[in-house]
Amino acid sequence: MSEPVALFRLAYASRSIIDPARVPVEIPRILESARRSNAAQDITGALLFGADGFVQVLEGPVAAVEQTFERIQCDPRHAGVAVLEAGPVGQRDFDGWSMAFAGRQPDLQVAALGPAPDILGLLQAALRRMAGHPVPARSSATMPPGRHPGRANGPGRVPPSPSAAAGG
Ligand SMILES: Cc1cc2nc3c(=O)[nH]c(=O)nc-3n(C[C@H](O)[C@H](O)[C@H](O)COP(=O)(O)O)c2cc1C
Repeated sequence: MSEPVALFRLAYASRSIIDPARVPVEIPRILESARRSNAAQDITGALLFGADGFVQVLEGPVAAVEQTFERIQCDPRHAGVAVLEAGPVGQRDFDGWSMAFAGRQPDLQVAALGPAPDILGLLQAALRRMAGHPVPARSSATMPPGRHPGRANGPGRVPPSPSAAAGG
C-alpha cells in the first residue's frame, strides 16, 4: 500500500497592480492558466480578488505548491506578496477545485469560468484559522451537498484524484 502524499497549504495576500481597465481581461487569464496548471499538478485552492488585491490559498503536494508559488510570486500583475499561512494539513479545504474564485466585480464575466458556491465561507474559515480563531466543526468549510455546482466537472472543478478517493 503506497503512502498518501503529504498535503501542504499556503495562503498569501498581495496587492494587485493590474490597470483597472485591464482587470476584465487579466483576471480570467489568471484563472484560466491557474486552473490548467493546477489541475495537472494536483493543486487545489481559491483566489479572492477585491479592491485591495488578492488572497489566495494553494493546497497540494509540497513540491508542487512551492514551485507554483515561486512562479506566482514573480508575476508582474501583483506585488507585496505576504505569506499568511504555510504548513502541512490533513485535508484539503478546496477539494475538487483547481482554483475557485470569488470577486466583487459583476462585470468580470468570470461566472462563465465557474465560481464556487460557498467560496467566501471557505475563505473566511481559512482566514479565521490563520488568525487563530477556532472554526466550528467545518460547518463553513464544507460545501453543502445541495449547493455543489450543477456541472460537477465544469471549469475550476476537477474530479477527485484516485489516490484521494482511495486514501480518504
Ligand atoms: C494573483 C495570481 C494568482 C495566480 N495563481 C496561479 C495558480 O494558482 N497557479 C498557476 O499555475 N498560476 C497562477 N498564476 C499565474 C502565474 O503567476 C503565471 O503567470 C503562470 O503560471 C505562467 O504560466 P505559463 O508560463 O504557463 O504561461 C497566478 C497569478 C496571479 C497574479
